[in-house]
Amino acid sequence: MTTQHQGTAVTDSIPSVSTFDLSTYLAQRQVTVESALDQSIAIVYPDKIYESMRYSLLAGGKRLRPILCLATCELVGGTTEMALPTACALEMIHTMSLIHDDLPAMDNDDYRRGKLTNHKVYGEDIAILAGDGLLAYAFEFIAAQTRGVPADRVLKVIAHLGKAVGAAGLVGGQVVDLDSEGNPNVSLETLNFIHRHKTGALLEASVVCGAILAGASELDQQRLSAYAQDIGLAFQIVDDVLDITATQEELGKTAGKDLQAQKATYPSFWGIDESKRQANQLVTDAKAQLEGFGDKALPLMAIADFITARTH
Ligand code: IPE
Ligand code: IPE
Ligand code: MG
Ligand code: MG
Ligand code: MG
Repeated sequence: MTTQHQGTAVTDSIPSVSTFDLSTYLAQRQVTVESALDQSIAIVYPDKIYESMRYSLLAGGKRLRPILCLATCELVGGTTEMALPTACALEMIHTMSLIHDDLPAMDNDDYRRGKLTNHKVYGEDIAILAGDGLLAYAFEFIAAQTRGVPADRVLKVIAHLGKAVGAAGLVGGQVVDLDSEGNPNVSLETLNFIHRHKTGALLEASVVCGAILAGASELDQQRLSAYAQDIGLAFQIVDDVLDITATQEELGKTAGKDLQAQKATYPSFWGIDESKRQANQLVTDAKAQLEGFGDKALPLMAIADFITARTH
């Protein structure tokens, strides 16, 4: 997405295909998100829980969910300011899911985002509580910090996000993921359920909440939701592929764990090449959902391509 064509007219606010540079866009958005996250949680008594929450929240990461939320809000005509508290909340919830996913009772991982996992540093008790603290604070943060958005939209965001992270979403997906460990006969239907829930639901909510905040029509919300469901599934397929093909240095987390834990993954079902092909097809389908939005959808188009092109 970095190609530059000479002589192409550049408009003020809407990027054109030839001038849109995804790495610059992501880098700028990451700065905005990092700074808002850093300011979101202060360390007060009892210090160790806030330190533990900040340790994982500020450990880096692609910040894909907040960036999707900001990009979608802007696509529909809203501003960064309207969506920033929800964007931060999405990253708090995602971080909670990573802290808990890494616990010995779940995936039992020692490294995350290039650092020791939360429980390795603070102990399992504090890691569980840090996840709880982040999850609760995410909803408080949206309710208390959102400015310039009608209250009914904020309420819809809270409801949508609650559903995405609960038993009907991420939590349900994690349950079936754990239940399926060691089972060599997991059906494609179950595999899709796992991926669409443990990972897809929060990515879908990242996009749809951005749309809700900006007052998107029902039809636009549906198209954006379809886009996000496709990239959500593609994202977890690529995560499964990278677990096999990438190194610990690239991933910032231990590679090869899925095979070791006999996880139900796309590569275990389809093999690596067919998994990659299916992820690419999902990205193509996702982008087709954006056609009616024109050049305003360039960031979401480029992010869809990034899902399959990424190396970590
Ligand atoms: C990792 O998510 C967990 C999955 C849902 C696959 P990310 O790959 O978005 O992790 P970070 O936030 O960049 O560390
Ligand atoms: C993670 O799936 C899904 C959630 C954290 C909700 P994985 O278990 O595959 O994520 P990684 O590979 O540990 O990042
Ligand atoms: Mg897991
Ligand atoms: Mg894991
Ligand atoms: Mg994984």
